[in-house]
Amino acid sequence: MRVSYPRFFLFLLLLAVFCFDSLASGATLSQDEVEALKDIATTLGKKDWDFSVDPCSGERNWTSTVQVKGSENELRCNCSYNNDTVCHVTNIILKAQNLPGTLPQDLFRLPFIQEFDVSRNYLNGTIPKEWGTTKLLNISLLGNRLTGSIPKEIANISTLQSLVVEANQLFGELPLELGNLPQIQRLLLSSNNFTGKLPETLNKLTTLQDIRLGDNQFSGKIPDFIQSWTSLQKLVIQGSGFDGPLPSGISLLKNLTDLRISDLNGSEQSTFPQLNNMSLKYLILRNCNINGTLPTYLGTMTTLKNLDLSFNKLTGPIPSNYEALRKVDYIYLTGNLLDGEVPAWTDKADNVGAAACLGSNVCQKSSYSLHINCGGKMITEGKSTYDDDLDNGGPARFHRSGSKNWAFITTGNFMDKDAGDYSIWQNKSSLSVDNADLYMDARVSPTSLTYYGFCLGNGNYTVNLHFAEIMFINDQTFNSLGRRVFDIYIQGELVQKDFNIVEEAGGIGKAIIKNFTAVVSNNTLEIRLYWAGKGTTSLPFRSVYGPLISAISVEPNFTPPSEENGSSISAGAVAGIVVAVAIVIIIVLGILWWKGCLGKKSSLEKVCALIGVSYYWTFKTTGFLANGYMAPEYAMHGYLTDKADVYSFGIVVLEIINGRNNTIHRPKEQSFSILEWANLLKEKGDLMDLVDRRLGTNFNKEEVLVLIRVALLCTNVTTQLRPSMSAVVSMLEGRTVVEEVFSEANDEEEKKMEKMRLYYQELSISKDEPWTSSSTSAADLYPVNIDSSYLQKRG
Ligand SMILES: *[C@@H]1O[C@H](CO)[C@@H](O)[C@H](O)[C@H]1NC(C)=O
Ligand SMILES: *[C@@H]1O[C@H](CO)[C@@H](O)[C@H](O)[C@H]1NC(C)=O
Ligand SMILES: *[C@@H]1O[C@H](CO)[C@@H](O)[C@H](O)[C@H]1NC(C)=O
Ligand SMILES: *[C@@H]1O[C@H](CO)[C@@H](O)[C@H](O)[C@H]1NC(C)=O
Ligand SMILES: *[C@@H]1O[C@H](CO)[C@@H](O)[C@H](O)[C@H]1NC(C)=O
Ligand SMILES: *[C@@H]1O[C@H](CO)[C@@H](O)[C@H](O)[C@H]1NC(C)=O
Ligand SMILES: *[C@@H]1O[C@H](CO)[C@@H](O)[C@H](O)[C@H]1NC(C)=O
Ligand SMILES: *[C@@H]1O[C@H](CO)[C@@H](O)[C@H](O)[C@H]1NC(C)=O
Ligand SMILES: *[C@@H]1O[C@H](CO)[C@@H](O)[C@H](O)[C@H]1NC(C)=O
Ligand SMILES: *[C@@H]1O[C@H](CO)[C@@H](O)[C@H](O)[C@H]1NC(C)=O
Ligand SMILES: *[C@@H]1O[C@H](CO)[C@@H](O)[C@H](O)[C@H]1NC(C)=O
Ligand SMILES: *[C@@H]1O[C@H](CO)[C@@H](O)[C@H](O)[C@H]1NC(C)=O
Repeated sequence: MRVSYPRFFLFLLLLAVFCFDSLASGATLSQDEVEALKDIATTLGKKDWDFSVDPCSGERNWTSTVQVKGSENELRCNCSYNNDTVCHVTNIILKAQNLPGTLPQDLFRLPFIQEFDVSRNYLNGTIPKEWGTTKLLNISLLGNRLTGSIPKEIANISTLQSLVVEANQLFGELPLELGNLPQIQRLLLSSNNFTGKLPETLNKLTTLQDIRLGDNQFSGKIPDFIQSWTSLQKLVIQGSGFDGPLPSGISLLKNLTDLRISDLNGSEQSTFPQLNNMSLKYLILRNCNINGTLPTYLGTMTTLKNLDLSFNKLTGPIPSNYEALRKVDYIYLTGNLLDGEVPAWTDKADNVGAAACLGSNVCQKSSYSLHINCGGKMITEGKSTYDDDLDNGGPARFHRSGSKNWAFITTGNFMDKDAGDYSIWQNKSSLSVDNADLYMDARVSPTSLTYYGFCLGNGNYTVNLHFAEIMFINDQTFNSLGRRVFDIYIQGELVQKDFNIVEEAGGIGKAIIKNFTAVVSNNTLEIRLYWAGKGTTSLPFRSVYGPLISAISVEPNFTPPSEENGSSISAGAVAGIVVAVAIVIIIVLGILWWKGCLGKKSSLEKVCALIGVSYYWTFKTTGFLANGYMAPEYAMHGYLTDKADVYSFGIVVLEIINGRNNTIHRPKEQSFSILEWANLLKEKGDLMDLVDRRLGTNFNKEEVLVLIRVALLCTNVTTQLRPSMSAVVSMLEGRTVVEEVFSEANDEEEKKMEKMRLYYQELSISKDEPWTSSSTSAADLYPVNIDSSYLQKRG
């Protein structure tokens, strides 16, 4: 065959480029390792490795030029062997590629391999025992479909620093040999099906810094020998199967910064472990059956970011030195037996809300069914209309549906999250299930989600809970591998443990209706969904776990009284204490008094004492009656505090609601002195000028004036002339006429007034979203019953 000159020239050129190239890199991968990689690619199902280039070149798909965090694709070599002439593969990182194969036993043919990371793929099969002869430092198999047990040969990798097998389907007991790993720092075993006790040999793992054992089927107590893991910084034992109590030896782990133990089995009581002299950032001891009081030393732990001691049996007051914790991002104390006052610092703290309990609920009318489209808008399905449920939630949120007879409480924040917080999830594609609209949106919660139905006629009901898993994706990828598991309680009884939507519905995106019978005897129905640490927490991304519910429908097992009868008989009937529940007004601090408020002894007196507020008030204009509830056209919620300052009464306005257009105004500056306010009012010719113009004109001027005048009275320069609390209540309730009293302002007060005027103008004019519609329903408008007898007592 004749070779034309140009072609020959091209050939030479190519040869030159090739030679130059290999000279430039100076070293290549041995043919043995190339062959090993070919076999590894076949086993893994990695199709886009291009063996026409040197794997160590980083070209083509060997190493992606842009590495996306969580989806890294990289093969790294060390080319400095044999005087820079030989390369060896050191790292293989193939994350989130949905590789469909199995784990390659041939890794041992890469003698210098240090890191093998195939997080979030679709690999099945078992962990090859052949890896025992490698010198791996780090292995990550997170989020695959691996089965079998951990082979004891793994323990022969004396170089191993990090072994991550989280979120697979591994089972069996942990091999005794694991205790032989002399350099191990991270051991992440969460979300598998490991059984048995932790082998005693693990006490030798003194180099461990991070161990996670949650979501397994371990048995026995948490062993005492964990106290020998003295290098430990992070310990996670959530929903792991272990029985209580908490081992006291935890106190020896001085380097802990992140301690999360939750949902211990068994009935044995735990005492609060001694955790002083640790610099904990995360302390979660939820549902661990801890009794006794809150330890004072926690008050000195200013490193804390997240403190969750909820669902224990803690008693006594909150120690006063906990004031130092007011910068902590999240504090949850709900579900305990605490008493005493809610400390005043909770309303001074950044990002911490005061909690208030509402008194008894008067039901104007009983209802006999309940329909909620959790996380979604109002829809009609057959004969039933499902109420909308679009509140944005929050780490600790009580939301009462506008004019409807139900509410929910959600608590918890997602830990280690990849994405932002969310409390509602919307399905992106269509669902092929009956009544698909009910399942397109769902409400989710990181820890606990409780729905309450109020004013239900007493009797037996069928509670239908509608579920469909819409956060996993039904395909052959790691998006389908998550497991969501939570518990269901009805009327305080555990009716289903370890509920798994996908398993019961027969697949992702399929619907399942769980039916339960509830006996309603005090007009209240409670449906509680609780995450007990089970299920995966990192698939398809971190922060996918906890309860998820699509809809609730509740129907009577009896024939309800006819409409006319029903209303005439039950109009004005008192439904007893219904949800004397905490409203968490600004954010967090958990819901301190959940149990306390629901307890039969709770009264507003106790509650108000608890929250350290002398007078909680709601001021509202005459509104319209909707379903028996007053939906005001304009309402202000707030409370007065009697801090011992010159102003006598501080007034804290929490929100101003316009019932007409469902907008809520939350003044950025939460608190101002009633004295300053009043002085400003005095100066104004027309008190009404002070009313925020954006409230429009749809409010009752007289009622607003009453409030303003009362405010003026309360700030009289002469203390003795200020009205008593009972008089204030009487005036606000319209039982007493408000006198007009004005006092002279002095120079000092003039200055304050000027400041206040500027402040108030700013507040009225600023355009930066002071109006937020955080709720699309009639927004937290509830019949507030201030128990005046209590206030009179105080007055
Ligand atoms: C990289 O792999 C993808 C498939 O995963 C393929 O479409 C693409 O052509 C490959 N790129 C190169 C440079 O080989
Ligand atoms: C590459 O290997 C050599 C020889 O073992 C070693 O000295 C060097 O630190 C290694 N380089 C890297 C980046 O690991
Ligand atoms: C290493 O290579 C350099 C240049 O490539 C050479 O000068 C040196 O003698 C070599 N060393 C050994 C030990 O072969
Ligand atoms: C892995 O899964 C595939 C289907 O995805 C199946 O055909 C194969 O038998 C499984 N292999 C093992 C070892 O379980
Ligand atoms: C571990 O390695 C030692 C020697 O290095 C060997 O004697 C032993 O059999 C190996 N154990 C396993 C389980 O492979
Ligand atoms: C291997 O694991 C150790 C321990 O967790 C860690 O410090 C190190 O950065 C990891 N190395 C690589 C290459 O990921
Ligand atoms: C876990 O193991 C237990 C006992 O070995 C078994 O009954 C159960 O089905 C397993 N669960 C899963 C999810 O594999
Ligand atoms: C605990 O942490 C300190 C400071 O980081 C370190 O010096 C010390 O060695 C650690 N202790 C153990 C037992 O690892
Ligand atoms: C906690 O419970 C245990 C066992 O019931 C009991 O012995 C102990 O006194 C309790 N501790 C406190 C502080 O109540
Ligand atoms: C309601 O249910 C309870 C328990 O399921 C049963 O004992 C009771 O008889 C029922 N009441 C009526 C009125 O059906
Ligand atoms: C109402 O009854 C349910 C069970 O019937 C109970 O769990 C709940 O605590 C009761 N509520 C009040 C306020 O008594
Ligand atoms: C649960 O209730 C729904 C609707 O009321 C009904 O379609 C379904 O058959 C019931 N399921 C069971 C298991 O009773």
